[in-house]
Amino acid sequence: MKKLLIFLWIVTVSGNVVAQQNKMVEASMNKVKLKFMLDQEGRACYAVSFSGKAVVEKSLLGIDLLNDPAFDQQLEIIKTETTQVNELWHPVWGEVSSIRNKYEQLVVQLRQKNSPNRLMNIIFRVFEDGLAFRYEFPKQPGLKYFIVSNERTEFHLTGNHKAFWIPADYDTNEYKYTTSKLSEVDSWKVTKAATDIAVRVAPDQQGVQTPMMMKSVDGLYINIHEAALQDYSAMQLHVDKNTYNLTVRLVPDAVGNMAYLYAPCKTPWRTILVSDHAADLLASKTILNLNEPSVIENTSWIKPMKFVGVWWEMQTGKSTWSYANRSDTLNAQGQLIPNGTHGANTANVKRYIDFAATHGVQGVLVEGWNVGWEDWFGNWKEKVFDFVKAYPDYDVNEITAYAASKGVKMIMHNETSGAATDYERQLDTAYRFMNKFGFPAVKTGYVGKIIPRGEHHDGQWMINHYIRVLEKAAEHQVMVDVHEAVRPTGLHRTYPNFIASEAGRGNEYNAFSDGNPPEHETILPFTRLMGGPMDYTPGIFKIKGYSDVKGRQVHTTLAKQLALYVTMYSPVQMVADQVENYETHMDAYQFIKDVPVDWDDTKILEAEPGDFVTIARKEKGKGNWFLGAITDENARKTTVELNFLDRNRKYVATIYADAEQADWQENPEAYAIYQYIVTSATKLRLNLAKGGGAAVSIMPFVSGSQKVKKYK
Ligand code: NOJ
Ligand code: CA
Repeated sequence: MKKLLIFLWIVTVSGNVVAQQNKMVEASMNKVKLKFMLDQEGRACYAVSFSGKAVVEKSLLGIDLLNDPAFDQQLEIIKTETTQVNELWHPVWGEVSSIRNKYEQLVVQLRQKNSPNRLMNIIFRVFEDGLAFRYEFPKQPGLKYFIVSNERTEFHLTGNHKAFWIPADYDTNEYKYTTSKLSEVDSWKVTKAATDIAVRVAPDQQGVQTPMMMKSVDGLYINIHEAALQDYSAMQLHVDKNTYNLTVRLVPDAVGNMAYLYAPCKTPWRTILVSDHAADLLASKTILNLNEPSVIENTSWIKPMKFVGVWWEMQTGKSTWSYANRSDTLNAQGQLIPNGTHGANTANVKRYIDFAATHGVQGVLVEGWNVGWEDWFGNWKEKVFDFVKAYPDYDVNEITAYAASKGVKMIMHNETSGAATDYERQLDTAYRFMNKFGFPAVKTGYVGKIIPRGEHHDGQWMINHYIRVLEKAAEHQVMVDVHEAVRPTGLHRTYPNFIASEAGRGNEYNAFSDGNPPEHETILPFTRLMGGPMDYTPGIFKIKGYSDVKGRQVHTTLAKQLALYVTMYSPVQMVADQVENYETHMDAYQFIKDVPVDWDDTKILEAEPGDFVTIARKEKGKGNWFLGAITDENARKTTVELNFLDRNRKYVATIYADAEQADWQENPEAYAIYQYIVTSATKLRLNLAKGGGAAVSIMPFVSGSQKVKKYK
């Protein structure tokens, strides 16, 4: 990110409060207030309130070490220090072009009372929309290499809040969300039913994943997650059904340890976002602000884009990733016997390149192009794929030359099948191959159980692996879209080549399982997307009839698929359907063609987790606005004030709406397109069908060019 600091203001106040038990230290920012104290046993505690209402009651902090005395009690405060920061920075890409980072920081320096009197600091940052804290282990004689066996952080909530949760799985985030009271959390019920997810490891029946979204009876929206997860394992939460105390559980490694640290070091931030308006949480930049600025200096090669792909046809079973049906049966010439259904063949790929070139899409992803897909999955084997060897019917030279002649970028696919060790061995070769052929981005994947065996997708080893991949990719100027990885924690600020990840239940579940319920996309922004952009793969136009399985369909209307390009933020967006399914609806496709993937501004107009989301965004460097409104299984009428538009300017709004008879189940592909002249005074009425949505492009009116009626 450009290190253009327009305004930086820091004030520091220090205080020495050696060994003062029960002494309270406070920090605050507007409505958010933090209290820190040591209790009678010398345990570190904190509490949080919003507008005077308790959000987190007195809760414990601390870390247990393997074979060393824990930082859990008998602590004394040696110093506290308060700093105020107010700065502005500019992301390489994003929902807005400038981000304010304003907080009050409180550093509490702690020491164990007993020998060897080890040191640990707790760093708090209080923002207008929440707060964060992390543990810091300074350089010191008595603590060098150490192993974290448990983190004692608690979030003691004030009541039996409504929660939107998925199980605390060590290996996947691809569950449907459950909406329940905290006291009703039963993750085993969910993991047992989720037979569409191959690897499920969720040992804590009362465990939930973060970001965890909640709503209290008195109308507070609370979100708990983490930021800047590096060199540590992912945080999950154990819910006490009686006291509503949430305790941190870390994802263990192959031998049961949580993290291997080396002082000086810091743990990831624990974040609590809070507001009385749900929309404020979607607008929050706190998680991003808690991450370090970009480590990549020249970012000119990082470019948001849309892409089509030889992909949905495999997901729906029309073609295969593999070239042959068996890897162990060869013909007389010793070659694989082609199955005739291989999707990544030169002729088919050229169709996608042609579509991209003609219809304003920058990239083409091709899956199943490289050898190894015959028995890629479920064998926990280490050597699966070769990342530079194409199948015989995929001509890399011909395809890249063809794409280049049409100005289209090819996107690489590196599925690892969970064999992270083997991928690391091939990284240099794989990225050199991409450089040679001019591929700007790679989609990686980690389907299956991890190798090193015994490690988990969300454990420290893999957390470090994902970062090693980002660093190696940056060396080669490659952008990364990772699937099946840990859920993001704002690291794209530090690594802006980290352009998206999946780490959630994507649209693809509609292709091969009973799918995503209509409310799914109204929950994701409050949960999975809090940490960063999602490669959700919107834009499916053939809502029904793509599968032989009875009842299988996408659980939205077509208009809602368009709206997702706005409500589901990502700097890379797939135009996910098969190209022939767009060719029959080119009028609706126009929205996908027009909608950008990079923004100067974002307005969260209305939002309620599980019910609806309406967002307007302003195209980067242009005067165009795009609006997306989505609802759950209930139809919805809403009126949107366009007061974010420039005053004294006329615009043409093109509204891609659910048709009057539309309904996600009965009539999902029925849409209607209207055009009107609008201004900043317009109040736009939108009718969303059950499971429906509306997408609107709003572009400055060019006089004389269009005959359009004024909106009334
Ligand atoms: C799962 C990914 O989410 C999907 O997009 C991909 O097609 C398959 N793995 C195969 O790599
Ligand atoms: Ca709902």
